[in-house]
Amino acid sequence: MNLQLLNKNLNDINADITIEFLTSDELALHVENKLLNKAGFKAEQDSTCFLHEKATLFCGIDSKKADDVRSTCTSAIKALKTSNYESAKLNILNNDSLTGLVEGLVLGGYEFNDYKSKPQEISLKDIFLASDNFNDSETIFNEALIVANATCFTRDIVNTAPQELNPQTLAQLAEKLARDNSLECNVLQEKDLEKENMGSMLAVGRASVHGSALIHLSYKPTNPKKIISLVGKGLTYDSGGLSLKPAASMVTMKMDKAGACSVLGMIKAVSELKLDIEVHVFVGAVENMIGGNAYKPDDVLVSRSGTTIEVRNTDAEGRLVLADVLTYAQDTVKADRIFDFATLTGACMVALGQYTTGLMGHSHKLKHDLSKAATASGELMGSLPFNKHLKKLLKSEIADISNVASKPYGGAITAGMFLDNFIQEENKNKWMHFDIAGSAYTESPWDCNGYGATGSSVRLMSHYLKNI
Ligand code: BES
Ligand code: ZN
Ligand code: ZN
Repeated sequence: MNLQLLNKNLNDINADITIEFLTSDELALHVENKLLNKAGFKAEQDSTCFLHEKATLFCGIDSKKADDVRSTCTSAIKALKTSNYESAKLNILNNDSLTGLVEGLVLGGYEFNDYKSKPQEISLKDIFLASDNFNDSETIFNEALIVANATCFTRDIVNTAPQELNPQTLAQLAEKLARDNSLECNVLQEKDLEKENMGSMLAVGRASVHGSALIHLSYKPTNPKKIISLVGKGLTYDSGGLSLKPAASMVTMKMDKAGACSVLGMIKAVSELKLDIEVHVFVGAVENMIGGNAYKPDDVLVSRSGTTIEVRNTDAEGRLVLADVLTYAQDTVKADRIFDFATLTGACMVALGQYTTGLMGHSHKLKHDLSKAATASGELMGSLPFNKHLKKLLKSEIADISNVASKPYGGAITAGMFLDNFIQEENKNKWMHFDIAGSAYTESPWDCNGYGATGSSVRLMSHYLKNI
């Protein structure tokens, strides 16, 4: 589908159908009020009504704020995709909600059909947007499109099946992104990871037939204002390992690479937006499987930092991978900010619900700035507080630390506090951990997210980095 902003009056644009937004107040005064009333249209948020004789699709909306516009545009594009119209046009409401409008149309209309032999054919090819303030709208439109497309890029990788997307093919995909977007790329294979003493990360991938890989991509503009490191959990499959997941919980675990896919989407967006910040992406690409050489509960791992870890549950593998990747990232790049993104705990969903990302770390200022960016970008994020009592639950009798807490309550926080052990003293206030276990994937549509990957955090981080 081609989405275009035109420097034209709506009446001068040729299209099969017009999309019109209506609040309930506007509906009462509308010339087609009687007809719309007969059709049962009340202009409720997310409701739609075709008046085919008038070549118009009416879309109910509560307000002209970005969140409502995004959601309405999602309903509009879904309705249009079931019709046989080939082109549509609409007036943008205002520049403040233009990003939401683009997101609704692009993300709300997204489908992943790679494995369907006969995907449903869609007639709609073009959507034209008209603005009375074209010059101001143009930049907003172009940037929104870059970020929405980067979010779809992330969704595509997360949605790709695990027999196709393994640590090695993820590394190849990152290399292609580097070529396409002129990024630097360095991939460390298992023999390199051994030399780098990444014993914690290597243990997790040992039973997989696919070699683990650490992917480092960088975007380096001249005279960058800031240096940012983005770290992603890239478990291309999480079977749970020997602490095997129950059958029902294993389904959807291809999404355990969502953190990795999100940071790839972020660097894609940053490089296309041409931001004047240096961005480094570090991905721990690993598959957590079972087998004779699998790492086991009772093993003691020696991490890159030297901290020894008692394995008490092989399903708490993401933190083992991130421990080493976070250490490597801090050793390699002196960054102003270090953010990690991970589908780390089911407990995060228990704490915040499945739509909300959990934010953890030490800096109140960073939490505040990131929460503001989340709200502005239309993503949901809640802060989960560390405390010294929960920290004690990670004590091990035989090693420096255990990979699981001795009590299950506050599981998202104890996981975050485990990672904190691998954050160097000078970086404590530069680091934030994002648990995207709930927000990265959905089996029932919400907002502009359909079935599958949501591309969580790409919009949020693009917004934050643009305004840093
Ligand atoms: N990848 C999972 C977390 C997860 C669960 C993500 C559900 C998305 C949906 C993670 O590796 C895991 O299994 N965590 C365990 C930790 C536990 C063993 C302490 C969990 O959440 O149960
Ligand atoms: Zn796990
Ligand atoms: Zn996992």
